[in-house]
Amino acid sequence: MGMFIDLKALVVVFLLSIQTVVSDIDPPRTRLRSTAFGIPGQDAVYDYVVIGGGTAGISLAVRLAQNASSTVAIIEAGAFYEVDNGNYSVLPGLYAASPFYATTEDFPRQPLVDWSLVTTAQTGALNRKIHYAQGKTLSGSSALNAMAYHRGTAGSYAQWAKMVGDDSYSFPSLLPYFRKSCRFSPPDDAKRQTPNATVEFDPSAFDAAGGPLEVSYSNWVDPALTWFERALVAIGLPINAKGFNSGSLNGTSWIPSTINPSTGKRSSSKSSFLQQSIEVDNIFVYTQAQATKILFNSTTATGVDVSTRGVSYTVTARKEVILSAGVFHSPQLLMVSGIGPRSKLEEYSIPVLSDLPGVGQNLQDQPIFSLSQGINIPVQAKSLQAPEALDQFLRNASGPFSSLNGLIAFEKLPPRLRDNISHAALNALRRLPIDEPEVEYLASTTVAPDGSGIGLLSAALSAPLSRGSVTISSCDIAVPPVIDLGWYTDVAGADAQLAVAAFKRLREAMAAIPELTIGPELSPGPSVEDDGEILTYIRNTTIPLYHAGGTCAMGRRNDTRAVVNAQARVYGVENLRVVDMSAVPFVPSGHPQSTTYMLAEKIAENILRGSP
Ligand SMILES: Cc1cc2nc3c(=O)[nH]c(=O)nc-3n(C[C@H](O)[C@H](O)[C@H](O)COP(=O)(O)OP(=O)(O)OC[C@H]3O[C@@H](n4cnc5c(N)ncnc54)[C@H](O)[C@@H]3O)c2cc1C
Ligand SMILES: *[C@@H]1O[C@H](CO)[C@@H](O)[C@H](O)[C@H]1NC(C)=O
Ligand SMILES: *[C@@H]1O[C@H](CO)[C@@H](O)[C@H](O)[C@H]1NC(C)=O
Ligand SMILES: *[C@@H]1O[C@H](CO)[C@@H](O)[C@H](O)[C@H]1NC(C)=O
Ligand SMILES: *[C@@H]1O[C@H](CO)[C@@H](O)[C@H](O)[C@H]1NC(C)=O
Ligand SMILES: *[C@@H]1O[C@H](CO)[C@@H](O)[C@H](O)[C@H]1NC(C)=O
Ligand SMILES: *[C@@H]1O[C@H](CO)[C@@H](O)[C@H](O)[C@H]1NC(C)=O
Ligand SMILES: *[C@@H]1O[C@H](CO)[C@@H](O)[C@H](O)[C@H]1NC(C)=O
Ligand SMILES: *[C@@H]1O[C@H](CO)[C@@H](O)[C@H](O)[C@H]1NC(C)=O
Ligand SMILES: *[C@@H]1O[C@H](CO)[C@@H](O)[C@H](O)[C@H]1NC(C)=O
Repeated sequence: MGMFIDLKALVVVFLLSIQTVVSDIDPPRTRLRSTAFGIPGQDAVYDYVVIGGGTAGISLAVRLAQNASSTVAIIEAGAFYEVDNGNYSVLPGLYAASPFYATTEDFPRQPLVDWSLVTTAQTGALNRKIHYAQGKTLSGSSALNAMAYHRGTAGSYAQWAKMVGDDSYSFPSLLPYFRKSCRFSPPDDAKRQTPNATVEFDPSAFDAAGGPLEVSYSNWVDPALTWFERALVAIGLPINAKGFNSGSLNGTSWIPSTINPSTGKRSSSKSSFLQQSIEVDNIFVYTQAQATKILFNSTTATGVDVSTRGVSYTVTARKEVILSAGVFHSPQLLMVSGIGPRSKLEEYSIPVLSDLPGVGQNLQDQPIFSLSQGINIPVQAKSLQAPEALDQFLRNASGPFSSLNGLIAFEKLPPRLRDNISHAALNALRRLPIDEPEVEYLASTTVAPDGSGIGLLSAALSAPLSRGSVTISSCDIAVPPVIDLGWYTDVAGADAQLAVAAFKRLREAMAAIPELTIGPELSPGPSVEDDGEILTYIRNTTIPLYHAGGTCAMGRRNDTRAVVNAQARVYGVENLRVVDMSAVPFVPSGHPQSTTYMLAEKIAENILRGSP
């Protein structure tokens, strides 16, 4: 690759994205495709106004538009990622090449698709300030995410149901919504050419009639991961016979990704839900349109003020406003609109419509850290440079451009590693659901500057006890929210102690495959030995896994942390819901996009049915 620009690939990517918008070679339709867009600067009225054209926002809006008699507007601050971020957001294999994912404060900016959010100094992470990527584009973070797809444990959804007092949040009751949103394709063994990657899954977890989100096993496997599979099995994490989509997260599994298997490209909420619906008559998309304030008549939401490059206009909702601006911006927009902790709002002279102390609190974020080691097998980053790689992608939707990672494992730490964990921490951990793993392990590879292969084993706390917060420092939405991820700050110190034990598991796994490894551990290196040194390394190198949630938590009215009820309606006001990762009361273990899509399906059905 290097400086070589493949014009053919660029043109293909560009045309595919533009085609969505302006092509006129498709079958007949009932309106000009260009009228699928709202016009900035002009006031307009729709039945439903969805703020944020992200993962949840687009899926929910598209389902609402299935009632052909109502109109739905999507207000999105960004635009088209295929144009604005080139091939990086489209080709799974280029994910790691995108420079703006750097987590340091001085990360290279990509303002067209990322909000460029930087956290406060993290006290549990040696006061580092962390760049936390968040999608600012149609699809939101489903345009930036690492595409891993699986579901949480039955126990975690049971806990959700209990917290909100509504059995429709139990896993069996949610399963129809998980199944509805996605279309699953089993592995294509001819393309994968890796029979030793032991894919086990439960076909009944998916629905043949589901969709439009594409969920598939990638058409190529990084061979180094097959060795890490052996390593994880060797340390006592056997292949899970059902995979990770049936309510259990225990042992090791090859997991599917949100990749379209027939093109090898990312499947986002836009490329799936919106693309199939852009021709329906009643959906209107505003791009480069930032919601600045939710409008109310007394306590009834009536619409939203919007700004497009400084031009202001009002989009009115006859029926409902649905807020889907994501885990950081949904609470921010509530606060600047008068919903949140009274003292905070009064500090910025914002009139209080609903005093909800929970807005912005309860932020849960899974921290992740890694160890690295030289390995003697060609890694994906190297395979991308092979002359046939692009051909494989363009002809067969396969090869290293079509794939990203895919091997993960979960466990509650074994008793032997709990010896040094304090009683207070062990007691706190006992409150997690019995099937909720404490740690997730992930395998990936990268390449050293000299071209040699590097293997990475990472551990993430999958159910961290620490909580952070998001708040405002201005009544102006243009001033970024103030984010504290709260890593390693729980009172019992459980997260830090678990992290040290999990790090030891990473070393055990790496040591289990001597045929693969070359040389000493690269990072942190063998000199980091005792628990104190290990913890300092963890604090110094932890990065986000980008699974934050809980900042507009669903809960019962008498729970002071609760912001929305079980139908996602905001307490204290009418005609306003929050539907996105901020509304989940806690983040189920593992990768949450399946839960985001599920929640959008569930609440959309609730609205269409006219349930209270
Ligand atoms: C880098 C990264 C990697 C990830 N990897 C994975 C993974 O591999 N697997 C997985 O399951 N999950 C992953 N996730 C998490 C998952 O993608 C998110 O949890 C999910 O997409 C969140 O969806 P959402 O609808 O809550 O928010 P988003 O999808 O972020 O949508 C919010 C939208 O609102 C818009 N918006 C915000 N404020 C305004 C405003 N004022 N006006 C108008 N629009 C506004 C934003 O531009 C955005 O489009 C990852 C996330 C990131 C960022
Ligand atoms: C992706 O885009 C970059 C930057 O435009 C270019 O250098 C690279 O060749 C492209 N890669 C592919 C596979 O198209
Ligand atoms: C569909 O929308 C129309 C107009 O907004 C409304 O009157 C009707 O009740 C809706 N139907 C359903 C099933 O939601
Ligand atoms: C699995 O097969 C691939 C492709 O043939 C090979 O590169 C890899 O080394 C094998 N892994 C193991 C653990 O044998
Ligand atoms: C506000 O609501 C009241 C009561 O429903 C209604 O009479 C009034 O016209 C509304 N005001 C505006 C500006 O829409
Ligand atoms: C495409 O796949 C077929 C088999 O499915 C294989 O014969 C062919 O070599 C592949 N082509 C490329 C470019 O990988
Ligand atoms: C517990 O701590 C002691 C002292 O630091 C250390 O020697 C031992 O290896 C630790 N045990 C575990 C299981 O981590
Ligand atoms: C995982 O499976 C093992 C045995 O296969 C079992 O002992 C353990 O309790 C399970 N853990 C969870 C969290 O389900
Ligand atoms: C943290 O990591 C940086 C390199 O990224 C290093 O320079 C620094 O010494 C480390 N700090 C500690 C306390 O280990
Ligand atoms: C809240 O209400 C539920 C039932 O509605 C009850 O079980 C619970 O104890 C109440 N909690 C508090 C803190 O009052």
